[in-house]
Amino acid sequence: MQSHSLLLMGLPLFQSLTSVQAQPQPSDCSDPAGIVPLNPQCWTALNISQHILDWSATHNTTCQSGISFASCFLRVLDMGQEDCVGITSNTCPTPSWIQFKKNNISVEDFYVAYNVYSVYTFFNGYYTAIGNARSAATDSIGAIVALLDPPKNTNGLLNDLLTALSVGLSFLASDAGPLVGAIVTGLRQAPGVAKFLFPVGTLDTQVAQFDQIANSMGTVTTYLQHNVTQALAAIQQDAQTFLAITGSGNFSVTPVPTISDQSDSILTALNTYIISQCLQANNWVVARAIDTDVNELQANGSAAGWDIPNCGNGYDGNSLCGAYYFNKAINVSFTLTNNGDVSNDPTSAMDQLFANWTTPDQLFNGAAQCQVQGGSAPVVTTGASDLDASCLSNLKVCTWDLDPSHIGVDYEFIDCSNQSGVYVDGCKGCPDGDICVNVPYSYIGNYLTYTAWGLPYDFCIKDGNIIEPGS
Ligand SMILES: *[C@@H]1O[C@H](CO)[C@@H](O)[C@H](O)[C@H]1NC(C)=O
Ligand SMILES: *[C@@H]1O[C@H](CO)[C@@H](O)[C@H](O)[C@H]1NC(C)=O
Ligand SMILES: *[C@@H]1O[C@H](CO)[C@@H](O)[C@H](O)[C@H]1NC(C)=O
Ligand SMILES: *[C@@H]1O[C@H](CO)[C@@H](O)[C@H](O)[C@H]1NC(C)=O
Ligand SMILES: *[C@@H]1O[C@H](CO)[C@@H](O)[C@H](O)[C@H]1NC(C)=O
Ligand SMILES: *[C@@H]1O[C@H](CO)[C@@H](O)[C@H](O)[C@H]1NC(C)=O
Ligand SMILES: *[C@@H]1O[C@H](CO)[C@@H](O)[C@H](O)[C@H]1NC(C)=O
Ligand SMILES: *[C@@H]1O[C@H](CO)[C@@H](O)[C@H](O)[C@H]1NC(C)=O
Ligand SMILES: *[C@@H]1O[C@H](CO)[C@@H](O)[C@H](O)[C@H]1NC(C)=O
Repeated sequence: MQSHSLLLMGLPLFQSLTSVQAQPQPSDCSDPAGIVPLNPQCWTALNISQHILDWSATHNTTCQSGISFASCFLRVLDMGQEDCVGITSNTCPTPSWIQFKKNNISVEDFYVAYNVYSVYTFFNGYYTAIGNARSAATDSIGAIVALLDPPKNTNGLLNDLLTALSVGLSFLASDAGPLVGAIVTGLRQAPGVAKFLFPVGTLDTQVAQFDQIANSMGTVTTYLQHNVTQALAAIQQDAQTFLAITGSGNFSVTPVPTISDQSDSILTALNTYIISQCLQANNWVVARAIDTDVNELQANGSAAGWDIPNCGNGYDGNSLCGAYYFNKAINVSFTLTNNGDVSNDPTSAMDQLFANWTTPDQLFNGAAQCQVQGGSAPVVTTGASDLDASCLSNLKVCTWDLDPSHIGVDYEFIDCSNQSGVYVDGCKGCPDGDICVNVPYSYIGNYLTYTAWGLPYDFCIKDGNIIEPGS
């Protein structure tokens, strides 16, 4: 069973950021001013994890009970970072090695203070980005609804919106990738943090109507912000949880990536969900042709009867041609087809959706994987080192029957019933002497390669718009 590995999808630079660097020696790390300002690899060289455990054991009774590890550490250090705890509007100065050194503070303590600061900065930025996502989502969902024009009462469960919003963490810009990776990896050891970052909400009976989304998004963003506040508190609370998140060293970077303005990125998954709901409400389904490269089919002359609309010149950067998306990795061509009116052309909607809000892989392949899993609502699970989200897109997926021997028994799809109006012979506008059959706009079924009495079929879409045979 496959599912989306969103972390890897969302963060293509993840691997490329792993520079081929020799592991530094402790001596290389003892004066951070002398090396790359702060180096993730020094965490291990300096054995900061052990240092933190030793520190907590030694300072077991230093602070009153109820004071978090992070607060206690910063208080004891007394270097002006005491406010770097929790989600606050307080100012949290960046720890400066020059200052720390001047005060005879060890480089190990500097790393700990810096990591408290960078975790704080990251989560405060994420909190702000979620807050900003409220108005960004109102804009993007408004534009999607305007484009796809679903029935007025098209809606979704707030809980599904919450799941889709929380997955946005994995779509942060790639400079945040190592930090997000460290968080997701750390969640295995810190399930208490995972439940806050990916809350299974209690909002499930509440429904959001997409044409009036603003208030609903406010409810969802406020809820997730509250949980992110709890997540940060849990991370800072005790040394073990803090180490689960920071122990890879990946938070030891300067500057800490700015993510407060990345509301659009964190909405990628949510937009996919909205698009999927709106398309369904308008009777669109995904249709796919297995083991078919639609452009090759067009180019190599097998589909002699049909100049597959706008798919003559190969694929664009999104692997699209006309109304089709070809996923080379799995050798499947996808399109949308409308069960309410098979003549509907999805090309322009697809171009706009993929230019602005989602990816063909999320929308099409995501739906196919959701169907394999028998899922319906969006679900997120945290794997060993990545985040799996399934069913953000849960469009129905139908598979063209490509077996020409089924012609005459009228199988359109191997797994869905016929669309209405399809495969009607001799449609209006059929030239004299030709044989014609009515097909959906973005058809890639078995009639394409079928010849009757040595003649290929002509294709009509809905009563009369004859599509000229390919030349
Ligand atoms: C860190 O220190 C502990 C205790 O001294 C030791 O057991 C561990 O191997 C050290 N780890 C590294 C990576 O040096
Ligand atoms: C200090 O350590 C003792 C023994 O390990 C433990 O029982 C106690 O709860 C600890 N106190 C604090 C404040 O962590
Ligand atoms: C700095 O700290 C070390 C050990 O923590 C100590 O031996 C040394 O005397 C301190 N130096 C100053 C100038 O305080
Ligand atoms: C830390 O970041 C590197 C990339 O810089 C990544 O390869 C690694 O997996 C990250 N660590 C964790 C625990 O995710
Ligand atoms: C997340 O926050 C909401 C709203 O404050 C709260 O009701 C819910 O219990 C929190 N989730 C978890 C897992 O604590
Ligand atoms: C895709 O499937 C077709 C038909 O089975 C085959 O001819 C072609 O080689 C396949 N392409 C790839 C890239 O696997
Ligand atoms: C053209 O492409 C189709 C689908 O990929 C393949 O089945 C067929 O064998 C190809 N025909 C030629 C003549 O290359
Ligand atoms: C979406 O993308 C299209 C095509 O690139 C562009 O013309 C259009 O303005 C975009 N729409 C929005 C709402 O951003
Ligand atoms: C498809 O429709 C045709 C009549 O239009 C019918 O003969 C055929 O049985 C249908 N096939 C399926 C699989 O429903």
